[in-house]
Formats: sequence, C-alpha cells, structure tokens
Amino acid sequence: MRKIKVAIDGPAGAGKSTAAKMLAEYVHYKYIDTGAMYRALTLLALEHNIDWNDEPALVKLFDEHNIDQNGVTTLIDGIDIGIDIRTNRVSRAVSIVCRHSQVRERMVKLQRELAQVGGIVMDGRDIGTVVLLDAELKIFLTASLEKRAERRMRDLIKMGKPIPFDEVLSNIEYRDKLDSTRKIAPLKQADDAIVIDNSELPIDEEIDIFVELVREKEHSN
Ligand code: DC
Repeated sequence: MRKIKVAIDGPAGAGKSTAAKMLAEYVHYKYIDTGAMYRALTLLALEHNIDWNDEPALVKLFDEHNIDQNGVTTLIDGIDIGIDIRTNRVSRAVSIVCRHSQVRERMVKLQRELAQVGGIVMDGRDIGTVVLLDAELKIFLTASLEKRAERRMRDLIKMGKPIPFDEVLSNIEYRDKLDSTRKIAPLKQADDAIVIDNSELPIDEEIDIFVELVREKEHSN
C-alpha cells in the first residue's frame, strides 16, 4: 500500500473543505486548503490598501510575506489569521485577486511544495487540472446553487457574521461566474475526475465513498 495524492475541486460552497478535512483525518493524510491561501493574500491586500487589480503590487506583497496553510490553520508570517479570511469582504475580493497569472504561478509553486509529503488531500479549483496533475485520485465535488448557499449561510451564522440569504446566494453566483470564466486555471473538472453531486448526500455517506476510493487507489498504485 502506498499513500496517494487526492485532489478535490468544485465550486464555492460544495463542502470541499469539510469533506477534505474529514477524509484526511480518517485516512491519516495531510490536508491543505488552497482557497485559504488565496484568501490570506487577499486579507493582506485589504490591510495594505492594495488595489485587487494591481498585479505587481499583489506579487510584491506575496514575496514580502510568508503564507502557510496546514489544514485548519492559515498563517501569515507565522501568525494564525483565524476566521478573518472568511468574511464576506474577503470572499468578494478573493475572486479578483486569484485571477492574476503571476499570483497563481507563485501560489501553485508554494502549493506543490506543501504537497511534498506522503499522503495529501488538497482542495481548491485547479488542483486536479494544474497543481497536482499527477494526483492518483481526483474528485469534482458539486451541489445545487441553493444547497451551497444554505451551507454558506450556516457557516456565517456559526461565525456570528450572518448576512441576508439573497446576499449569500448572489455572492456564490458571482464567484461561480468569475471562477469558471477566468482565463487562467478556470474551475472545470479534470477529464480523469470522479464527479460527485452531494446535494442530497449526507456527509457520512460522502466520506464513506471517498475513503473507499482512497483505499482502492492505495492498493492499485
Ligand atoms: O474555496 P474558497 O471559497 O475558500 O476559495 C476562495 C477563492 O479562491 C475562490 O474565489 C476561488 C479561488 N481559488 C482558486 O482560484 N484556486 C484554488 N485552488 C482555490 C481557490
């Protein structure tokens, strides 16, 4: 048996992070949330009043700071930034920040470095198509727009930052559009990805399916 690389991609609110985290715990793999890394750079840009469209300034910011992601924890220069990256302000700005080619180049390089360990579960938008092209297991996780908005709404309530449902829905629609129409590394399923729609799938059943898929790949590689 050999530990493998698992790539989980899909649109905002499909529950990728929750599923990826649970799967990693279950199979004792390392989990990396790549969306959190783009969010960390976006938070830095907002704090430094940098225009989201100013690619050279964003790249400079990236080069001057140290972003680290370790599953649950996201760090900037060694400091845990907690839920500050989950605000609606960051959610809106991040889809612009992550469109720049030089930003993506640097992030992809860093993500590949972080993935240089035995078993890895990495989630994002371009993991199976760009970052970990050689991942033995690629999953494209999706759900209906309404279900995804409901889940996002629950997360915001949990964080004590509720906003009207219509606003959550339009934010997700807006991000879907930006993520899937951008020129570089748009959100799309890899040809060799397994597509799972979890609109009506309870999380424990979803994790059972993922674990089964990992075990199959571990034994066939
Ligand atoms: O998964 P998330 O909502 O935390 O992602 C935040 C943003 O980052 C989202 O708008 C898409 C972008 N992203 C990306 O372009 N590539 C990734 N691998 C992960 C996230």
